[in-house]
Amino acid sequence: MSANESLKNALFTEEFTQNPYPVYEKLRQSEPILNLKFPDGRYGWLITRYDEAVAALKEGRFIKDITKAYGAEHTSVFSTNMLFADPPDHKRLRGLVQKGFTPQRIADMRSHIQDIADTLLHEASAKDTMNLIDEYAFKLPIIVISEILGVPTEDQDKFRLWSNSIIGASNRETSEEVAQHMHEFIAYLKDWFAKVRENPGDDMISQLVMAEDQGDRLSEQELYGVVTLMIIAGHETTVNLIGNGVLALLEYPEQRKLLQEQPELIHGAIEEMLRYNGPVEFSTSRWAAEDMEFHGVQMKKGDLVVVSLNSANRDAGPFEHPDLFNITREKSQHLAFGKGIHLCLGAPLARLEGEIAINTLLRRYPHFELQAGVDELRWRPGMIVRGVEEIPLALHPES
Ligand code: HEM
Repeated sequence: MSANESLKNALFTEEFTQNPYPVYEKLRQSEPILNLKFPDGRYGWLITRYDEAVAALKEGRFIKDITKAYGAEHTSVFSTNMLFADPPDHKRLRGLVQKGFTPQRIADMRSHIQDIADTLLHEASAKDTMNLIDEYAFKLPIIVISEILGVPTEDQDKFRLWSNSIIGASNRETSEEVAQHMHEFIAYLKDWFAKVRENPGDDMISQLVMAEDQGDRLSEQELYGVVTLMIIAGHETTVNLIGNGVLALLEYPEQRKLLQEQPELIHGAIEEMLRYNGPVEFSTSRWAAEDMEFHGVQMKKGDLVVVSLNSANRDAGPFEHPDLFNITREKSQHLAFGKGIHLCLGAPLARLEGEIAINTLLRRYPHFELQAGVDELRWRPGMIVRGVEEIPLALHPES
């Protein structure tokens, strides 16, 4: 077996899911644009080196709308949104929700997000232990995005189940269970949109429903697509920023001490958490719009192109000592939020949630410890998010 064959075989295995970085390092050195068959059976290219990753994310000849490459039957309601659209539809769809995510709008939410973090940690104070993911890292962003959208926060467990199912479905056949979850999600939103039409508020869903009613700015399918994207993207990612960030602090006690002593370093710390072990492993799919040459590689029309954001963020070219977690790293242009026109719309919100969540945890429970061995942590399988299922913490409130 050639070296490249053995690297291909090492991708997407259980061992790779637990720690993909050694495989990425070899790929960056030997074949930074790798031709392979992806777990969903599609053929295409995996990009692992920083410069090529930036170029791919900005490349206009890589399109997002699969229907242009493979026909309308390949799309679903969950991909009828800006993330899977090209200009000019992309701009129209992003424009409908952009106003809700300006840095000023997000900064105005600071004290409210702080209250949510305090309440969640206060609830945990009755006991000495906490599953960080379920009780804190998941709850904080889902409450915030539910409030922005105007959906009941009590339904957060349903949103989690449906989102997990859809995200997990992207690299396996759509099972009956996943299909059932998709159906329930859409049925839920259908009822909710009807309620909103009768009694609109000043939340984001009300604005979108009104835009759909006016006709030419948003179709019904797009309304479902945009709202499901906001719910899924609004929490599936930030949960892992908080989770992976706390794990990095546990792995590097001297960095944790530094942040505890100087909480004002939190901005750099969040950027480093995003770089060191980012919550989004791979970009979403792009498709070559034509036969083309890209960085010395000959691609065919319809080829799948995926960027490993986490690999690019460990490239020694732009990042000195890339495998070290260093919260005082000089300004780093990591790719955790992507690049180009699809740059994450929720980045200001995710950063603020991460800052508040991490600093509040460090302040209220300065002595927290991991209650399991690092080897016992189970990283979630799949092609999109990078995060662990559970993080059991001993809080030691009285130490
Ligand atoms: C797009 C990462 C949080 C909404 C993206 C993309 C990445 C990303 C990498 C681009 C994907 C690609 O080009 O293929 C993250 C990370 C987050 C986060 C790491 C948390 C740490 C959020 C939040 C929201 C959100 C909180 C919403 C409230 C979106 C939307 C897009 C997007 C709407 C599509 C933008 C477009 O296509 O123009 N995100 N995201 N994200 N994200 Fe996030």
